[in-house]
Amino acid sequence: MCGIVGYIGTHAAAPVILEGLAKLEYRGYDSAGMAVFDGERIQITKSAGRLKVLEELTHDGATMPGVVGIGHTRWATHGAPSNENAHPHYNMNETIAVVHNGIIENYLPLKEKLISRGYQFTSETDTEVLAHLIDYYYKGNPLEAITKVMHRVQGSYALGIIFAEHPDEIFAVRKDSPLIVGQNENGCFIASDVPAILKYTRKVYFIENQEVVRLRADHMHFYTVDEEEITKEPVTIEWDSDAAEKGGYEHFMLKEMYEQPKTVTDTLMPRLKDGDIVIEELGMSDEEIQSIRKIYIVACGSAYHTGVTAKYVIEGIARIPVEVDVASEFRYRDPILEDGTMVIVISQSGETADTLAALRESQKRGHKVLGIVNVVGSSIAREADNVMYTWAGPEIAVATTKAYSAQLIALYLLAMKFAKVRGKLEEEAFQHMLEDLKRLPEQIEMLLSNKKKIQKFANRYVAAKDVFFVGRGIDYAISMEGSLKLKEISYIHSEAYAAGELKHGTISLIEEGTLVAAVATQDKLFQKTLSNMVEVKARGAFVLAVTNEGNTDIEKAADYVIYIPSTNPYFANSLAIIPLQLFGYYVAVGKGCDVDKPRNLAKSVTVE
Ligand code: F6R
Repeated sequence: MCGIVGYIGTHAAAPVILEGLAKLEYRGYDSAGMAVFDGERIQITKSAGRLKVLEELTHDGATMPGVVGIGHTRWATHGAPSNENAHPHYNMNETIAVVHNGIIENYLPLKEKLISRGYQFTSETDTEVLAHLIDYYYKGNPLEAITKVMHRVQGSYALGIIFAEHPDEIFAVRKDSPLIVGQNENGCFIASDVPAILKYTRKVYFIENQEVVRLRADHMHFYTVDEEEITKEPVTIEWDSDAAEKGGYEHFMLKEMYEQPKTVTDTLMPRLKDGDIVIEELGMSDEEIQSIRKIYIVACGSAYHTGVTAKYVIEGIARIPVEVDVASEFRYRDPILEDGTMVIVISQSGETADTLAALRESQKRGHKVLGIVNVVGSSIAREADNVMYTWAGPEIAVATTKAYSAQLIALYLLAMKFAKVRGKLEEEAFQHMLEDLKRLPEQIEMLLSNKKKIQKFANRYVAAKDVFFVGRGIDYAISMEGSLKLKEISYIHSEAYAAGELKHGTISLIEEGTLVAAVATQDKLFQKTLSNMVEVKARGAFVLAVTNEGNTDIEKAADYVIYIPSTNPYFANSLAIIPLQLFGYYVAVGKGCDVDKPRNLAKSVTVE
């Protein structure tokens, strides 16, 4: 998604902006640009393509002198990726420049009105409407013009704005799109995400919806949309900025896969106390846990897949009915939320527009929402009634791995806590499960150490056209994630099927040599999945199996087997996903794909 960085201070702005934008590259983008006040006028340079193009065009910022500037990486929504549509956008006489993340929903009627008043547009973007609208309301007071625009526009926005007539100030506002500001002894910064300015400051201010901030070189003022000045408290970011660097790995994705043992430990251990699970941030008494009648889990993509796993785990051990929904469906389908329904939203970024909307929809209907979130201070973290953080640290690769693993742990903990409080899990079984949970990090480590073997196998499939992932129960949830990992980074078509569904249509797609990855970790379903493997093998499929150590019977039906160490069946996802992540990764590497930044995808999907 789009990224914003701005700087005002004593140093040259352009290099600071370029460096900050580079830290946001992981969000995915297709064009980049900067506006810098050069002492006389606002200069804009922008281009479709990678940040590298902007760096070359500006000689690493040297051709854009000045100490005040805003920059942007754009992920196209309105209008194709092009030089014209790239941000920043000017007003007509080039005295105002705007960068924008988000979508202005009523931009068309606004555009028509502006055209009727003589405004001319040079791009297809909704953002240019903002530049002209600010111009329209601007009578010498930027704050007044900006707040008037905020009252007129509908949709989501984080904006950075500079005015040639106010060259010692940057203005920034937000609604439903993240924005932070920070300060150090050399100036003030705006950014759409923390890593962009972490090098300069750890104390950041989160701008709330409908707030405006005016930055000068040495101070910041915050205002409401009604121009009343307000005070805000900074939040200290604890991450190490190195955590957002590659640290010797070829790709962020590989580094992040290798961080999974730590991620699991960090998410798990602080919540284990004296042989029990303590989730203080849950904010629920035992009575409240006992009175849950149904759980709704709402999320997108991989986070949704962890929800599908959680359904099996929570229903299996806590015996609470669980419904799992993709957020973009939930928010528009008038969901039935009866008394006693608990809503859980899951999100790595905490900014996914549909998940945030689902949260708000649930709250509007009087339901408290628990957020399972990775990014501290993100919108979902701030708006959820309670937040259970997954301590995965910054995840940079677009394809999630370590945050996914951390989400699973958070969900297992919830399931076990609920099961125990509701009297569905005997102490002995509970303790056994705790021991299995604690062993996961070293087991994941062991599976990661097999990467060479999986790389060799993956190299045989770089030219594959179609791959199928099948499994039953939790193995189906694992298959969904294994399939997504492969397709999103390697661009190979793949699909996940509940193994029992194969015969209802999909099996006709199996041809000589088609790769079918069968996940069979659930003992009670093993024979059933084995039969499905035999069926596809008989039709020419090459069968890759992922199963538990000791299940050597599978070798009769599989061409290639990956064994995972023994654990509680409810936790098998945490282990079986590791070889599948490695498989997807190495197929993509073998094909020469841009693994960390797959085409058309963004790390943080802040538009619906
Ligand atoms: C896939 C992936 C996406 C995200 C989805 C939700 O590898 O990363 O499917 O899981 O976009 O994002 P968050 O968790 O940030 O809400």
